[in-house]
Amino acid sequence: MRFLSETKVLASHELRREGARRWLRLEISGLAAVSPGETVLFSEERHSPRCRIATVETFSDGHAALVAKFEADDLVPAVGRGLTVWSNENPAVSVGAGSLIVTTPAFLYRVAPFEQRGATVLVEDDGADLWQDLRQRVGGGLAWTSIFLALEPARLQAFAAAFPDANPYLFANMDMSCGIGACRSCHVTVSDNKDGEASCRVGPWFALKRVNLVRLQFASTPFI
Ligand code: FES
Repeated sequence: MRFLSETKVLASHELRREGARRWLRLEISGLAAVSPGETVLFSEERHSPRCRIATVETFSDGHAALVAKFEADDLVPAVGRGLTVWSNENPAVSVGAGSLIVTTPAFLYRVAPFEQRGATVLVEDDGADLWQDLRQRVGGGLAWTSIFLALEPARLQAFAAAFPDANPYLFANMDMSCGIGACRSCHVTVSDNKDGEASCRVGPWFALKRVNLVRLQFASTPFI
């Protein structure tokens, strides 16, 4: 969905805090149609170089709840202020009914909204054997192409070693600057396109076997 919306902040709630880092839910009005789970970019001023990404948690009639992480030196949008929000996301892979998303408690806020599209979200449990769980589900008939891994690249490398023939999708968690495919900050190195692929346009999901997992480890942001 391509759009650029001038929105207004209606409310802001802190969801979590770790040191100076905070996760906020921003309720806004005036947003173009978006889908739960979609990644959008936002900036307090239209031409500000400071922009960040947020996940669409809910959307109805122009009103949306966005969830975003704020570092210590980030300016938190004040209630009543304008907020420019945009997206050029046109995912190459759609996630919905029949999809199983696997993630961790820390990253759940980025993928939980996909449940509104019919996906099932499996949160990795401390002490549980995730690989064994997936093995059983695939043995029970679930296709690897219905599995979406929102896990750190190091875990994906461990997955690829444990399941060399499997080709699920992975979530590329990239920093973004322009959101229109121009700045290359979110490009993922893939085997079939020497220019890479812009996560802000065709992501965030990529077939695991297309992606250079070592490069992804250095390029992606932490899954928190
Ligand atoms: S954010 Fe600039 S290319 Fe994706």
